[in-house]
Amino acid sequence: MIDITEITPRGRGESWVRPGIPPERLNALSIEILALKKKLNAIILAHNYQVGEIQDVADFVGDSLGLAQQAAKTQAEVIVFCGVHFMAETAKILNPNKVVLLPDKDAGCSLEESCPAAKLAELQATNPNFWTIAYINCSADVKALSDVIVTSGNAVKIVNAAPVERNLLFVPDENLGSWVMEQTGRPMHLWRGDCYVHVEWTHKAISKIRHEYPDAPIVAHPECTKAVRMLADEVCSTEKMVSYCQRSPAMQFVIATEAGMLHRLQKECPTKTFIPAPTENCRCNECRFMKMNTLEKVRDCMERLSPQINLSPIILEKARLPIMRMLEISSRA
Ligand code: 13P
Ligand code: SF4
Repeated sequence: MIDITEITPRGRGESWVRPGIPPERLNALSIEILALKKKLNAIILAHNYQVGEIQDVADFVGDSLGLAQQAAKTQAEVIVFCGVHFMAETAKILNPNKVVLLPDKDAGCSLEESCPAAKLAELQATNPNFWTIAYINCSADVKALSDVIVTSGNAVKIVNAAPVERNLLFVPDENLGSWVMEQTGRPMHLWRGDCYVHVEWTHKAISKIRHEYPDAPIVAHPECTKAVRMLADEVCSTEKMVSYCQRSPAMQFVIATEAGMLHRLQKECPTKTFIPAPTENCRCNECRFMKMNTLEKVRDCMERLSPQINLSPIILEKARLPIMRMLEISSRA
């Protein structure tokens, strides 16, 4: 019989303090995972879009920035990264000597796919004055070609700190890029990429839900199109959605981002109601890549120590610099 109290409280050793999992949320699989975690001296990091049962066994649940910050400071020997490939790669770049596991090796991202490193290098060659700002949703090879990395949570701060004499090239999300331009007033050359999930929300569908719930603030991710962002009361990263909804006096919110976010919001604000923003043609507000990870795959990857993230020494070295620059600028007051 496994002693739950002995295996649940690892989160308390990390900066983000979360209580142990409530017993009613534990099942045989999560108990196995918690035992494996102890045996491997592992940390489980989960993105806000992961299915609820993965979020429930994780030591830390957050946005891309929070996850990178946790990866940068963890003392664990094994990192189980419940998110998508570029996020696990970032953890590996920050921890080249540790084992980084991704439960499903095919968990990619449409933004990452939209920006092949060779095409970026071709564009960079056309203007030696480009200063390349890469959204963290890109491959390690693209990071290695970049000057600084941003997430949706710190992009405005980092672009504000970019050298004024350089021409800013922003890759690969044109929606996030155009939102950052609006916020900072800094012109940027935008790569033509998008998130296939966030572009499903339309002005028409959001206007309709606003009509149905006139008192509910609309909270949208900056990967949404401008037509949607302009209807939103708040545009922010997934983690900032949590603090916005906690602080707001409103009791109902319309959420325009991936569906996994609702589990996190409901957990953090149990007395409030969260309405998933409807899309126009389908109800496709789930990221097929994020949903490739399952609790079974989390257990299996820990048992087999596979699939692991491995990168060449040259990419590890080159990609580390822009990530460290991001973490440094992010930590400034
Ligand atoms: P956040 O960093 O805001 O969590 O966004 C990550 C992402 O992939 C959004 O689609
Ligand atoms: Fe990529 Fe979009 Fe999925 Fe986020 S939701 S991981 S940007 S495809």
